[in-house]
Amino acid sequence: MRCVVTGAAGFIGSHLCEYLLSQGDEVIGIDCFTGYYDPRRKEINLAGARQYDRFRLVREDILGAPLAELLDGADVVFHLAGQPGVRPSWGADFATYVWRNVLATQVLLESARLVGLAKLVYASSSSVYGDAESYPTAETLRPRPVSPYGVTKLAAEHLCELYRVGFGVPTVSLRLFTVYGPRQRPDMAFSRLVRAGLGGGTFELYGAGTQTRDFTYVQDVVGAMRSAARSTFTGVANIGGGSRTSMNEVLEIVSALAGEPDIRRLPRMRGDVRDTAADTQTAFEGFGYVPQVPLRRGLALMVEAERPAISV
Ligand code: UGA
Repeated sequence: MRCVVTGAAGFIGSHLCEYLLSQGDEVIGIDCFTGYYDPRRKEINLAGARQYDRFRLVREDILGAPLAELLDGADVVFHLAGQPGVRPSWGADFATYVWRNVLATQVLLESARLVGLAKLVYASSSSVYGDAESYPTAETLRPRPVSPYGVTKLAAEHLCELYRVGFGVPTVSLRLFTVYGPRQRPDMAFSRLVRAGLGGGTFELYGAGTQTRDFTYVQDVVGAMRSAARSTFTGVANIGGGSRTSMNEVLEIVSALAGEPDIRRLPRMRGDVRDTAADTQTAFEGFGYVPQVPLRRGLALMVEAERPAISV
């Protein structure tokens, strides 16, 4: 496949590029290296993809990029670029979320409707559900985000649906459930916790640790993205890891694998959902998705990948 990956230098984007390239695909990566976290980390994220001459990086913001040219001849667009982070999306920073998550998606869809794509895969989020009415949560449940971030991810998902129904752009929105693995974004829980465990630092735990997540290993996610792209499925599907685990249980697992971090307890953060759990039947039926990596194994892989960087 000839693929365009937006957000190519990010955590999931960089894994996706490497995976597509390993499968023989051609990849144009688009990334503008936003300052949400240190852009030098994103340069490092791309080291694997850069080994392939089928990979090309375009350093552009979607809102200013020559999209007609970049999408010309592409089979699939994977849209992962955006402003991440649930908890910092309140206040004045919300404008950035609207700009990067909603407007950028609309601009991309406008270009997509002028080319004959086989698929546009949008990286949506479990945060669209908010505090869901039932668990595991199916896509048919009414989304009610509890963070401004979740509102922008849901708005972009609705745009994908509008362009699918209105213009026949073959979109798939995958609602990703708290993705983890090597190179996880440095503001996310596992990344901080593994660093604290290996380096003997402090981990700040928000709330009592009884909140649960359906943590999903990054390799399962990128596999799902490519399978969805190659299938006839369009619409919305959950991508979860297959189990629901509390932060307190995660603390125990990471302590055993990496070392015991100090824990500093802070109040629960505004915008955080209490629990998530994915019903993945739609993804199974649509493109054969079955998560392969259980949490304990995924965390062990993450600890081993981070260990050399931290012990230097
Ligand atoms: C994550 C991503 O950050 C979002 O971009 C994504 O859209 C979302 O998953 C999703 O699934 O839709 P979150 O579930 O908050 O959001 O992921 P983590 O940052 O790994 O947090 C997991 C839990 O650990 C949360 O309850 C959070 O409050 C807690 N946490 C996080 C801490 O206790 N301490 C920290 O330093 C960071």
